[in-house]
Amino acid sequence: MTGKPALDDLFERRICYPDVDPQLRLSRLVGLDDQKTRLCKILGLLVNPAGLEVWAKLHHPAAGSLLDTVLRRPPLVVLAGDVGSGKTELAETIGDAVARQEGIDLTLFPLSLSTRGQGRVGEMTQLISAAFDYTVHEATKLRSTGGRARGGVILLVDEADALAQSREASQMHHEDRAGVNAFIRGIDRLAGAHVPAAVIMCTNRLGALDPAIRRRAAEVMLFTRPNDDQRRHVLKLRLEPLGIKGAHLESLVSATGPDAGLDYGCTFSDLTQRLIPSIVLDAYPNKPVTAARAIAIAKALVPTPPFTENSK
Ligand SMILES: Nc1ncnc2c1ncn2[C@@H]1O[C@H](COP(=O)(O)OP(=O)(O)OP(=O)(O)O)[C@@H](O)[C@H]1O
Ligand SMILES: [Mg+2]
Repeated sequence: MTGKPALDDLFERRICYPDVDPQLRLSRLVGLDDQKTRLCKILGLLVNPAGLEVWAKLHHPAAGSLLDTVLRRPPLVVLAGDVGSGKTELAETIGDAVARQEGIDLTLFPLSLSTRGQGRVGEMTQLISAAFDYTVHEATKLRSTGGRARGGVILLVDEADALAQSREASQMHHEDRAGVNAFIRGIDRLAGAHVPAAVIMCTNRLGALDPAIRRRAAEVMLFTRPNDDQRRHVLKLRLEPLGIKGAHLESLVSATGPDAGLDYGCTFSDLTQRLIPSIVLDAYPNKPVTAARAIAIAKALVPTPPFTENSK
């Protein structure tokens, strides 16, 4: 391919697991236990298919074709849903749990499509094809002849809204369609290569996800805004050490939830990236944080509107 982007241009950084930083970030995610467990199992099997055989021998010795049904799923998981709900955070950190569970090293290649591929014609297609080329190349080096791979690769295609457009949508730009097709080709190629690699795709636009991508996804996981319990957990973890608890904490939980005027409450990121820093900076540098100020700030915070199919 001419003008193929170099590895370091394509992926701004790589994340290697196991590592303490992603381990800590993963442990801080609230309300995603189900997604964590499922993702960990799927990714674990992609790097160590022999694990399922060991399990089957023990519990279901006659289950040969059943294993195939599970192991032949395309190596794609889609994380879809509301803004600031932990998709990127989970995708960037789950590799740590998989690496520890399987006892091998994993590498994540993160490719964000939000700021990329909007320039020259063909750029999106080229980026996606190159990302799959590198993923196959790196994962092939880690393949072992039997059983457990020597390592694994996760390709993260983040902010993939441009790909979550149905090929059937008549208004879809020709270039976007080529990007979708390149992505589908990449998934099929990776599946056929039988290498220890998986793709995680994140998007806000589940409703517009291309049927051919959806059909290939081993799982589509949904992400939503935090409920009362989840907001309480996030707020308590950070504010209880500052002396905010009990009825004050409850006031914060309800101030950040849906109310009579708005049928949606704060996102996880509204809490961690807007509310908590505002509370701290309000007190800094010469006052302590107080419950009264924290509650007033929470009441004044306007939650990020939910993503709608027409909002981008
Ligand atoms: N489930 C959660 N528990 C705790 N904190 C969370 C959770 N989800 C998100 N956060 C906080 O919100 C921040 C933003 O989350 P993240 O980037 O994963 O959102 P996203 O789902 O990828 O959103 P977008 O669709 O806008 O890309 C995280 O860094 C974290 O601080
Ligand atoms: Mg994100």
